[in-house]
Amino acid sequence: MKTLRHAAPLLASLAACAHTAPPPCACPMHAQHGHGHDHAQGHHHAPTDATPPSGMAAGHHHRFDDPAQWAQRFESPERDAWQQPERVVAALSLAPDARVADLGAGTGYFSVRLARAVPQGRVWAVDVEPAMVRWVLDRARRESIANLSATLATGDDALLAEPVDLVLVVDTYHHIDARTPYFTRLRSALRPQGRVAIVDFRMDAPEGPPPAMRLAPEAVRAEMEAAGYTFERAVDGLPRQYMLIFRAGR
Ligand SMILES: C[S@@+](CC[C@H](N)C(=O)[O-])C[C@H]1O[C@@H](n2cnc3c(N)ncnc32)[C@H](O)[C@@H]1O
Repeated sequence: MKTLRHAAPLLASLAACAHTAPPPCACPMHAQHGHGHDHAQGHHHAPTDATPPSGMAAGHHHRFDDPAQWAQRFESPERDAWQQPERVVAALSLAPDARVADLGAGTGYFSVRLARAVPQGRVWAVDVEPAMVRWVLDRARRESIANLSATLATGDDALLAEPVDLVLVVDTYHHIDARTPYFTRLRSALRPQGRVAIVDFRMDAPEGPPPAMRLAPEAVRAEMEAAGYTFERAVDGLPRQYMLIFRAGR
């Protein structure tokens, strides 16, 4: 029987963190939003597509606290078509024994693929939502993915269990407040030559967060350089998102 590392501390931290603050903007991936959005008040918003997850009436705010519902969107074949996860993971050129954090892991869409890519390594799915963390832990157990753990973050600290070679951030960068101090702090959780890969929606993508919340790749690059990272390269070819890879240090 394969076991999950960190399960005990996680469950303890889940109990302690039942009141973890939700992320300031819980924009769903991928449905275009048609209503206003006051990020400064830290509130959440609903998608305007026809089938919002249950318990989330249109126009009301939500968190990513219903993994079963979000999984229908995050793990859908429609998403696979444009997300092209294999292309994303291949572009990371991970060593088989690499240690990786999937920051804002959600239902583990990328975490499970990363775990397969590093059979001698380890992946930590990291999220601020206790329900998502539990979901990924259950998924790893159900799918017998021994090298996948899941841990709870706070909104301003990834709280990584140990230093990693790579942090992947898919459709989550724009959810993080005070990004420059956040990613400055994250540098100390990276191994030497550690990298951060950011994938997020392009300004003209047909879905994603409201336009006012989107970040141009140039803005992401400027923020990451201010946080002490060196731009390594952009990965082209994703139909709806940009992908930028940074290395810690100058
Ligand atoms: C749009 S989902 C993306 C999920 C996943 N990366 C994927 O591609 O399927 C964003 C996730 O980021 C989480 N999140 C938001 N702010 C976060 C933060 N500061 N630290 C860690 N996770 C965060 C949310 O709870 C949610 O699960």
